Amino acid sequence: MLTSRAGSASHRNLKCQMISSDELKKQAALAALEQVEDGMKLGLGSGSTANHFIRGLGARVRGGLSVVGVPSSERTAELARAEGVPLATLEELPHLDLTIDGADELDSRLRLIKGGGGALLREKIVAAASSRMIVIADGSKLVETLGAFPLPIEVNHFGIGATTAAIADTARRLDMPASLTRRLAADGSPFVTDGGHAIIDASFGLIRDPEALSLALAAIPGVVEHGLFIGLASAAVIARPEGISWLVA
Ligand code: A5P
Repeated sequence: MLTSRAGSASHRNLKCQMISSDELKKQAALAALEQVEDGMKLGLGSGSTANHFIRGLGARVRGGLSVVGVPSSERTAELARAEGVPLATLEELPHLDLTIDGADELDSRLRLIKGGGGALLREKIVAAASSRMIVIADGSKLVETLGAFPLPIEVNHFGIGATTAAIADTARRLDMPASLTRRLAADGSPFVTDGGHAIIDASFGLIRDPEALSLALAAIPGVVEHGLFIGLASAAVIARPEGISWLVA
């Protein structure tokens, strides 16, 4: 538990307020690290929460743990290499034991929005190749209904105008608003994923039926993948100032 044992309620509240979201991400990552066993084949997620996990994993590897990881992005591969975590590809290891990854949003049914970092395609492939996926997140990511975070949709550059129009039509058919923005990199140029594609960030408002939206988006030619992860996560570790809790499917 993270709550202070000493002092009054106001002292505890003050301490809770002082825990940063990054510290909570680290606590979730380290709690999930306890699920890693010797000999495991791991999917390594991407993003700031996953980075905490990879650093913790690196420390355990240097302490003698034997695992191999499949990275879900070039950035994750770089960090894992620097941490001394042995890496493989899905060609070499098509079946993984466990993927640990962050999320932009999750609901109590372990439906996720991912792709804020642009790695959603590889993240979904790695998660789908794993027997289990544990999501690691600070408490702000757990929502009642998905959709406050714009849904990242990875699209092919070819025909991007037609694909964007088809996404807007799909939203209309599902009676959802749609504000679609092509993602830009920090220097203002169009963002390009590790797979060489573009990302459209789609604000659909609250997503009442993620399954229907997921199927409809996946059916659009030109959509390479979207950031709704449904039926992939088996558990989530949520870190709040009050402590760690687990959500299990
Ligand atoms: C990367 O593409 C994403 O799916 C991340 O997993 C997600 O954006 C969570 O990122 P943070 O851990 O940085 O919040």
